[in-house]
Amino acid sequence: MRPVLQRRGAPLLFLLLLLLPVVSARGETSLSEHWARPVVASGLTSLGYVDTSRLYPESCAECHPDRHREWSGSLHSKSVGPGLLGQLDADAEPGLASSCYLCHAPAVEQSEVLESGAGFDKNPAFDRRFKESGVSCAVCHVRMGTVYGPGGSAPASSSHDKGRAPLHGESRGFFKRAEFCAACHQMDGGYRLNGKVLTNTYREWKESSYGRNGVTCQVCHMPEGRHLFRGIHDPAMVKDAVRIEVYGGKTSARIKLTNSGAGHYFPTYVTPLVVVRGFVVDKEGLKKDRTERKAYIGRGVTLDLTRELFDTRIPPGKSFVYDYTQPEATAVGDGDRIVFEVWVYPDRFYRDFFIESLKGGNFTSRSDMEQALAAAEGSPYLLYREEVR
Ligand code: HEC
Ligand code: HEC
Ligand code: HEC
Ligand code: HEC
Ligand code: HEC
Repeated sequence: MRPVLQRRGAPLLFLLLLLLPVVSARGETSLSEHWARPVVASGLTSLGYVDTSRLYPESCAECHPDRHREWSGSLHSKSVGPGLLGQLDADAEPGLASSCYLCHAPAVEQSEVLESGAGFDKNPAFDRRFKESGVSCAVCHVRMGTVYGPGGSAPASSSHDKGRAPLHGESRGFFKRAEFCAACHQMDGGYRLNGKVLTNTYREWKESSYGRNGVTCQVCHMPEGRHLFRGIHDPAMVKDAVRIEVYGGKTSARIKLTNSGAGHYFPTYVTPLVVVRGFVVDKEGLKKDRTERKAYIGRGVTLDLTRELFDTRIPPGKSFVYDYTQPEATAVGDGDRIVFEVWVYPDRFYRDFFIESLKGGNFTSRSDMEQALAAAEGSPYLLYREEVR
């Protein structure tokens, strides 16, 4: 344990003391209290020091190895990665960093700075290792040093007796609700583009048959309580959620993609792009020159977010239809077939953004930016390929 609360520790101690009575007086915290920013995950020791020793995901892993393994493979564990770090300097631009930490690292112990009326002060409770764990166990589960969960499995008191387990508190029903995820996957206030907010996943869900029938985010993204949080980066997850049909003949054909299993628009964010390619192959299966045509599924926006270029995302249950016709200038040969391919670029917006930032010198760390770009360039995959027969 680091004795973090020395002289400069007063603001945090004050913050904790201010929050404590609110929580304990009511007994049951509400969801909005749970997600009031910044989240205070740590508790105080009997000496009045802030105790961050049990906030690391590795400390939970000792008793929850499965949850830890699943979460480690999810993007929640990478939310403080090179893409974020390469753009931010919390000391130079604390306001900007704090606006990103709201979702990427929302605990008070994850921030270098603390907002204090007029500006920002250095945060005595800052813990870099906890910051780098991103959206980790304690961010969702620990408040004031106490672990909260959905209920149904509280630790036997014997593990408390040994003094090893952090205090596991009463259950909170809201862990099973979609609103729990909306804390970071819905952005109502603020910036609108073409009249629409940039992050609208919760409302898309709420208006769909899933929302009306209580099929929550957790049902699809945390089946059997597993902490995989798979999304657009996972080919198997996407394959199961998009039904694809092709029909047609030798010179024209149709592809129809139906959002049959995503509980919101496919895709929901401006970051991914889905590219449908139609082209002709000859009898050897070789692609014929100048026959390729493309269609895009996504919400295209300019890098400075001032203009929406197109919005062809597919709402739940709806379809996207694309008709391919072989260009007239190309000759039709014996054995020619039309082929459709569907490619997913999960990080398309960020790839372009990283390239521009590197060109413009607009970064705080070149090596972080280069690493983020490499990851974004490595994520595209072929979802589907079919020859029309
Ligand atoms: C504290 C904020 C926060 C909360 C709460 C949260 N998320 Fe996330 N989530 C994020 C951030 C940030 C990312 C992006 C991480 C990255 O790639 O840098 C993310 C990524 C994801 C992804 C991966 C997206 C992809 O592109 O593959 C899924 C799926 C997801 N979250 C689902 C959920 C679900 C379901 C819940 C509720 C149980 C939830 N999240 C709660 C912040 C949060
Ligand atoms: C409302 C919550 C929220 C806020 C605020 C937010 N992000 Fe994100 N961010 C997300 C989610 C969710 C994703 C994943 C999107 C996806 O996979 O389609 C993401 C993805 C990213 C990515 C790409 C993945 C990665 O980790 O490299 C970067 C970079 C990023 N955000 C940087 C920022 C920066 C910089 C800020 C502040 C200016 C910020 N974000 C503010 C929720 C948020
Ligand atoms: C983005 C938020 C989020 C993060 C990060 C997160 N959890 Fe959870 N966790 C949940 C939610 C939501 C549930 C309830 C899921 C349900 O019941 O549908 C849950 C349930 C649980 C449960 C009880 C249910 C079960 O089947 O085991 C345990 C234990 C748990 N989490 C441990 C962890 C550990 C350990 C970590 C870190 C390795 C972690 N969680 C990270 C949101 C999160
Ligand atoms: C020394 C062992 C131990 C450690 C360390 C530990 N837990 Fe637990 N936890 C348990 C036991 C035992 C249970 C009850 C049985 C089960 O679910 O495995 C439990 C249950 C839970 C639950 C479900 C509670 C509910 O409402 O159903 C959550 C959530 C949880 N732990 C989260 C965490 C988090 C987050 C950490 C790290 C900050 C952590 N635990 C560290 C032993 C531990
Ligand atoms: C019926 C199942 C289902 C439900 C319900 C559902 N999702 Fe998804 N989600 C998916 C599938 C499948 C994908 C992958 C395809 C895609 O990206 O749309 C996905 C993708 C995502 C992504 C990746 C980002 C992106 O740009 O596509 C995030 C983040 C996400 N879901 C969050 C949520 C949240 C938050 C909720 C609840 C408000 C939710 N999901 C409800 C199935 C579901």
